[in-house]
Amino acid sequence: MIAPPPGTGRHPGWPARLGPLRVAAGMVELRKPKLTDATSWSRIRLSDRRHLEAWEPTVPGSWEERNGTLSWPAQWSALRALARRGLSLPFVITVDGRFAGQITVGNVVRGSLCSAWIGYWVGSWATSGGVATASVALVVDHCFTVAGLHRLEATVRPENAASLRVLEKLGFRQEGVFRRYLDVAGAWRDHLCFALTTEDIPNGLVSRLLASGRAHVD
Ligand code: ACO
Repeated sequence: MIAPPPGTGRHPGWPARLGPLRVAAGMVELRKPKLTDATSWSRIRLSDRRHLEAWEPTVPGSWEERNGTLSWPAQWSALRALARRGLSLPFVITVDGRFAGQITVGNVVRGSLCSAWIGYWVGSWATSGGVATASVALVVDHCFTVAGLHRLEATVRPENAASLRVLEKLGFRQEGVFRRYLDVAGAWRDHLCFALTTEDIPNGLVSRLLASGRAHVD
C-alpha cells in the first residue's frame, strides 16, 4: 500500500516539518522525534533538572531513571503510537540543527470539539532567545490549518513567568483558573488556562511574529 503524503492521511498534520524561523537564539525548526534523539534528549534533561522539574507532571521513578538514555525508546515509541492514532502531534525543537526541546499537541479530540492542549520545554542553553515563542507559533498555525483543529489550550502554573510571557507575546487569551488541576512536582497545583481558536488569528501567529520583528524567515 502506498502511504498518503503527510497531512492528507486519516490523522492530518503528522508527521510534518515546520519552520524554519530565525529568532535571537538561532534557526528554529520542528520535526518528528527520532529514536536516535536519545543521547541529546537525555543529556539536556539530566543537566536541566532544576530548570524543568517544577513545571512537569509528577511521574513515578527517579529523575535519573526517567530521563536516562535508556528511557527514551519507550517514550519515543509512546509518542509515535499516540501520533499514529491521531491523538497527539509530537515535535522535537531544533535550534541551528541541534536538539533544543520538545513541543507536543496532546489529547486531540475531533468531532464537534476539534480541540487539543499544547505543552513545551526548551533546554536552558537555548532559553530567552524566542525559541518557545516561535515553536508555539509554528505549531498553532499548523494545527489550525493542516491538522484541522479549531481550539488549542495551554495550562500554566501562575508561578511560571517565562511560560506566561510566551503565551502573552502570542496573544493567548486567559480563560480561567483550574484549581488543583495537575500533579506537578509532587503536589496538586493550580493552573491558569489560556486558549486560542481559529477566529482569534485569521492570519495566523507566524505572520504576527514576523510583523513584530520577533522572528524572520531568512
Ligand atoms: N520572569 C519573567 N520573564 C521571564 C523569565 C522570568 N523568570 N524568564 C524568562 N522570561 C521571559 C524572557 O525574557 C522572554 O520574554 P521576552 O522575549 O519579552 O524577553 C520570555 O520569558 C520567554 O520567551 P522565549 O524566549 O520564546 O521562551 P524560551 O525559549 O526561553 O522558553 C520556556 C520558555 C519553554 C518556558 C522555558 O523556559 C522552559 O522550558 N521552562 C521549563 C519548562 C516549562 O516551563 N515549560 C512550559 C510549561 S507550561 C506549558 O507547556 C503550556
